[in-house]
Amino acid sequence: MKAIVNTIYGSPDVLHLREVEKPIPKDNEVLIKIHATTVNRTDCGFRKPEYFIVRLVGGLFKPKNKILGSELAGVVEAVGSAVKIFKPGDPVFGLSTYNFGAHAEYICIPENGSIAPKPGNTSFEEAAAVCYGAFLALTYIRKIDFKNTPKILINGASGSIGTAGLQLAKYYGAEITAVCNTRNFELVKSLGADKVIDFTKEDFTKNGQLYDVVFDSVGKSSFFRCKKVLKPGGIYLSSELGFLWQNIFLALLTPIFGGKKVLFPIPKDNKEDILFFKELIEAGKYKAVIDRTYPLEQIVEATRYVETCQKTGNVVISLHE
Ligand SMILES: NC(=O)c1ccc[n+]([C@@H]2O[C@H](COP(=O)([O-])OP(=O)(O)OC[C@H]3O[C@@H](n4cnc5c(N)ncnc54)[C@H](OP(=O)(O)O)[C@@H]3O)[C@@H](O)[C@H]2O)c1
Repeated sequence: MKAIVNTIYGSPDVLHLREVEKPIPKDNEVLIKIHATTVNRTDCGFRKPEYFIVRLVGGLFKPKNKILGSELAGVVEAVGSAVKIFKPGDPVFGLSTYNFGAHAEYICIPENGSIAPKPGNTSFEEAAAVCYGAFLALTYIRKIDFKNTPKILINGASGSIGTAGLQLAKYYGAEITAVCNTRNFELVKSLGADKVIDFTKEDFTKNGQLYDVVFDSVGKSSFFRCKKVLKPGGIYLSSELGFLWQNIFLALLTPIFGGKKVLFPIPKDNKEDILFFKELIEAGKYKAVIDRTYPLEQIVEATRYVETCQKTGNVVISLHE
């Protein structure tokens, strides 16, 4: 099968299209023919580790998983002898966050892993772009108390995690201020933003507005900058560790003192969440935002684009012939 292989860490140029052995499903696994996948910031982070902790997980000197790609949509081609939930021909979508492997024509995933039947009302490209942003955003959104319609500011509302967080926070019932570039105003309003702020023209920490929650989905702010826009007892959430990993330490310390606090939940995907996303999509309450679509052969270009940190939503790789 065709796959994008990287045997060393480095720039997008370490990604090469190769012929590799097609995987064989174990007893508890399904073999999926992938129709679409994505390039996301985690793929980039594991291809060129910025944080040492990534090397501890992904290989100290060279990548343990030589095929990246953590989300996918496709069709089950074969199943292991113990598989009960899926059968050949089933369209599925989901995540492979621990072993990656989705930048390929085929992947094997345990039937109890983070896969579910593909929503009936989506294309493979749309379905492939759902789960990464949504599961990461849900990790943060679950920390919020949605009683009494909290006022939430989402910084980076036009990114993958941002567009997901915006829709999920709207679904649970929040009043949302979205921070993004002017060119994405209409998009974020269509996803549920009640107010919009252009980060290129206005500093949201200086306009006097107060929020119950600041969710920085692109990690461009800090608790110390945002503290003054949080109401008493307000929560600061960030998708990034922050300067000197401060968000980890602040998440350990600030809840002890009461008052305004930092929470830094560790994401963990599961099948129940993928089934929840399917329900939301089929009910018309969630949609994946797609910026660009590339063929597998152009994954280096796709990766370079993702690394501009200026994509809107998600970048899809289509494997349709
Ligand atoms: N905690 C975790 O486990 C975890 C896991 C994966 C990823 N992450 C991190 O999560 C972050 C977001 O990931 P993502 O995939 O959602 O990012 P993304 O899609 O690459 O974000 C791109 C978006 O961010 C916007 N943006 C850039 N600079 C901004 C600023 N200063 N203020 C507001 N918006 C800005 C861009 O808007 P314009 O194009 O208009 O500039 C663009 O729409 C990344 O930093 C990533 O490393 C964390």
